[in-house]
Amino acid sequence: MAEQRNPHPKSNSPLDPPVRRGASHKEGGTSTLPFPPRRGKGLGGGDRVVLSVDNLRIHYATPQGDVIAVSDISFDLYEGETLGLVGESGCGKSTTAYGILQLVQPPGYIVHGSIQVDGTEVLNLDEEELRKFRWTGLSLIPQGAMNSLNPTMRVKDQIIDVIESHEGKQTDKEALRERIFELFQNVGLPNRIYNMYPHELSGGMKQRVCIAMGVALHPTVVIADEATSALDVVVQRIVAQTLVKVKDEIGVSLIVIGHDMGLLAQIVDRIAVMYAGKMVEIAPVENVYANPLHPYTQLLIDSIPSIKERKPLKITEGITHDPRNPPSGCIFRLRCPFAWERCAEVEPPPIYVEDKHEVACHLYDEQFEERRTNALASLANP
Ligand SMILES: Nc1ncnc2c1ncn2[C@@H]1O[C@H](COP(=O)(O)OP(=O)(O)OP(=O)(O)O)[C@@H](O)[C@H]1O
Ligand code: SF4
Ligand SMILES: [Mg+2]
Repeated sequence: MAEQRNPHPKSNSPLDPPVRRGASHKEGGTSTLPFPPRRGKGLGGGDRVVLSVDNLRIHYATPQGDVIAVSDISFDLYEGETLGLVGESGCGKSTTAYGILQLVQPPGYIVHGSIQVDGTEVLNLDEEELRKFRWTGLSLIPQGAMNSLNPTMRVKDQIIDVIESHEGKQTDKEALRERIFELFQNVGLPNRIYNMYPHELSGGMKQRVCIAMGVALHPTVVIADEATSALDVVVQRIVAQTLVKVKDEIGVSLIVIGHDMGLLAQIVDRIAVMYAGKMVEIAPVENVYANPLHPYTQLLIDSIPSIKERKPLKITEGITHDPRNPPSGCIFRLRCPFAWERCAEVEPPPIYVEDKHEVACHLYDEQFEERRTNALASLANP
């Protein structure tokens, strides 16, 4: 859902009508939103787009047909922003990350799309240009990154490898050591690990080394794929905070992929929700938690356990359709309690709700206001 700068300049209040995106952008209705989103305290991101993903589609070829892992998604990432990418297992989060970095491995392939970083079209880069662009334009802290550190190489040599692979042989060894110490300081690592091997470090330390490598060349955009999920909860939070602190210090933009909605709530500016390869909602974090609009986002938020309010967990089964053969119309309709005929016939386009908030669900189309009101009533009185 690539937002455009101020697409409806006079209607950026939460109480203004939702506006259909795309060609029909200006067809605003007259009613107010059913669930007026709370305006947040202000986003961490600026207004300059640093990464623009447009209509990206990625398949994995299998003997039974192509698995549609990422299905025509569009979104923007703003300068200095931290964007959380969530959705259940298999919805395409990692594939999106690999796609952005041009690291999709066969049998995966990019069917179409555009990925622009600071105006550079990543899909047009050749191998050598891409090699240079990784770590400097875009960098990835991959899922399970800490296990991908080379066990036979000292920490310092792994970081030096990243630096020298882009900047050539560094002759001033003292300056190089100082630079690595500065990186250690950025990510909260003690200098004594300089000469250590990965097996001598705790999980949290290894993850910090991966963060240090990811930001070593000050990329424009860092993507952290489940960077903390293998750690215990306390260390998870500390490492996540480190990630955001480093992001602010170094001035990069960040995409954090994760499952822990509680953790993400504390560290991101906006959340993008994926379901079965589609992006169904993207919104400022306050809106997502206070007023989730898409029925799937509502399910996600309802599934956050609470100690204070012990209620039965709303657990429903995962993605129900065959990813090679998605249902017609709305991707979520086989699990959606509000689905009606239109949902099987027409794919819901992204609908602009307010600045930096879009949702892909027919309920937010002006012409279905009554249906939306009834849906809201049924949520209030289940
Ligand atoms: N090599 C492959 N061959 C066939 N299908 C694949 C392959 N890799 C991934 N997929 C499919 O692509 C879809 C998206 O997978 P992906 O790993 O991107 O999901 P994810 O959201 O990152 O999941 P998780 O939260 O478990 O990490 C899934 O349906 C998955 O089964
Ligand atoms: S478009 Fe229809 S099926 Fe899809 S989420 Fe909205 S109401 Fe549910
Ligand atoms: Mg993944």
